[in-house]
Amino acid sequence: MNFLDVLNNRRSIRKYKDKKISELKIKKILKSGMMAPSAHNQQLWQFIVIDDRNIINKIADLHPYAKMLYQAPLVILICADLSKEKSKGFYSQDCSASMQNILLTIHDLGLGGVWISAYPKKDRINKIRKIINAPKNIIPFSLTPVGYPDEIRVKVNRFDVLKIHRNKWKNSID
Ligand SMILES: Cc1cc2nc3c(=O)[nH]c(=O)nc-3n(C[C@H](O)[C@H](O)[C@H](O)COP(=O)(O)O)c2cc1C
Repeated sequence: MNFLDVLNNRRSIRKYKDKKISELKIKKILKSGMMAPSAHNQQLWQFIVIDDRNIINKIADLHPYAKMLYQAPLVILICADLSKEKSKGFYSQDCSASMQNILLTIHDLGLGGVWISAYPKKDRINKIRKIINAPKNIIPFSLTPVGYPDEIRVKVNRFDVLKIHRNKWKNSID
């Protein structure tokens, strides 16, 4: 797929087939996450690849909007390692850039995922940190299930000329 096709056709996928994801595909997804830009090039992300059904279910139990995880064969969780922070306060932007790369790559590989947040909800961060047995400097940021899609989502067009301003705050059609 060319890049703009990937970008324009990606949708959140919340139903998955019962089929394993190959290690090669997992590596490609993780590599794309690590290719993201980051403040001061700090690359403070860490990735937890979760295929343990028990652990996936524990995350599904605690998260009110992540029940699709019960079906997912794999989860990739992005964490920020605050001990690696060079630019204070920028980690959410770094990890978001990484997650977007990951979601696009998942789609490019014919797989499906959906952005599930831990950050900025303190209770989710603390509970997930406990589940993965990570120290306090690790902030579980966001995660995505990864699976072969078991639903078809139609392409949408969100282009809206009213959201574009030129030079100053004013609608482009004024
Ligand atoms: C920061 C963020 C948090 C999200 N959290 C959830 C979530 O908890 N559960 C869920 O099913 N989808 C979640 N989503 C996915 C959005 O619902 C989805 O991206 C949006 O409805 C647009 O649909 P699309 O991804 O199919 O284009 C989240 C997306 C973002 C960017």
